[in-house]
Amino acid sequence: MSAILKIRDLRKVYEGGFEALKGVTLDIEEGEILALLGPNGAGKTTLISTLCGITEPTSGSATVGGYDIKTQYRQARSLIGLVPQEINLEPFSYVGANLHFSRGLFGKPRDDAKVEDVLRKLALWDKRANRVRELSGGMKRRVLIGKALAHEPKVLFLDEPTAGVDVALRKEMWDVVADLKAAGVTIILTTHYIEEAEAMADRVAVIRDGEILMVERTADLMRRLGRKDLTIELREPLTAIPEPLSGYDLCLGEDGLSMTYSYDTQADRTGIAGLMSALSEAGIVLKDLHTRQSSLEEIFVGLVEEKGAPA
Ligand SMILES: Nc1ncnc2c1ncn2[C@@H]1O[C@H](COP(=O)(O)OP(=O)(O)O)[C@@H](O)[C@H]1O
Ligand SMILES: [Mg+2]
Repeated sequence: MSAILKIRDLRKVYEGGFEALKGVTLDIEEGEILALLGPNGAGKTTLISTLCGITEPTSGSATVGGYDIKTQYRQARSLIGLVPQEINLEPFSYVGANLHFSRGLFGKPRDDAKVEDVLRKLALWDKRANRVRELSGGMKRRVLIGKALAHEPKVLFLDEPTAGVDVALRKEMWDVVADLKAAGVTIILTTHYIEEAEAMADRVAVIRDGEILMVERTADLMRRLGRKDLTIELREPLTAIPEPLSGYDLCLGEDGLSMTYSYDTQADRTGIAGLMSALSEAGIVLKDLHTRQSSLEEIFVGLVEEKGAPA
C-alpha cells in the first residue's frame, strides 16, 4: 500500500488569530478508511476543508495522489469527493440530475452508465426520477454521497456522516461506507462517536485542539482501551520479578519498590485475585496499591464528556 494523502505540518490560523490546526502530519493509505475522531471544535472540519481547497492553510503542505493541494489545486481536487455535514440539496431537483450536474462541475463529460453505477451502489437507482423532497432523510444523505462520487473521486471525505441520525440510519451509513471501501475508494470520515470509528475505520486518528494525539489501527486501539494499570508498592525493594510471579504481566519499577500490572477491565477475570495470593505466597509485603486508567482511557473519557455538546 502507498499513501494517497500526505499531510505535512499543516497549520491553520483563522482571521482573528485562532489556531485551529497546530501542525497536522498524517499519511492516509490508498483504500483504507480512516476515522478522524475528536470532540466538537477539535479542527476536523477545518482539516477537511483545507484538504479540499475550501479553506487556505496558513502553512504546511498536503498532496492528494501526488498533487499539491495549493499549487496543483485542480488535479488534487478532481481526485476528491466531499460529503458535507449539512444536507444542502435543492428540494425540487431530481435525484439523477444532481449527480449529472455534480459531474459536470468537475468538467467530466456526461456518462449515463457511470451515474447509473453510482446510483445503484447507493440503492438510489429506483429513485433517480424522484425529486429530492420526496426522499427520506437517509436517502438524502445517500444523494449527497452520490453527488460526491459522481466524478469518480479516489478519496472521499465524509464529514460527520451520522451526526443527528437515528440508529437504523447510522447502520445503513456504515453499510454504504463498507461497500465503497470494497469498491476501492479511500475514505476519511469524521466522527465523535467511538463506536462509529470502531465499526467502520481501519485506523483512527484522534484529534483535539487542532492536534493529532494518536493514530492507531482500530483493532489495537480497542484492545488497549479498557486496560488499567495496577501499581503495587512494596515495602522492600526487589531486584527482579520473583519466579513464582513470572506468569503475570508485571513490570518492575526502576527503584525496585513498585510493580505495575496491566489488565483488561472488560475481561471476565482480571487476574488480580490470583496475583494477590501469588504475591503473598512469594512472601512479598505490600505497602500500598493503586489503579490508574491508561492515558488513552483519559483521552476517551474526555471525548465522551464533550460528546453531548451541540455541533
Ligand atoms: N471561519 C472561522 N473563523 C474562526 N474560527 C473558526 C472558523 N471556523 C472554525 N473555527 C474554529 O476553529 C475550531 C475548529 O472548528 P472545526 O474545524 O469546525 O471543528 P470540528 O469540525 O472538529 O468540530 C473551533 O474552535 C471553531 O470555533
Ligand atoms: Mg465539524
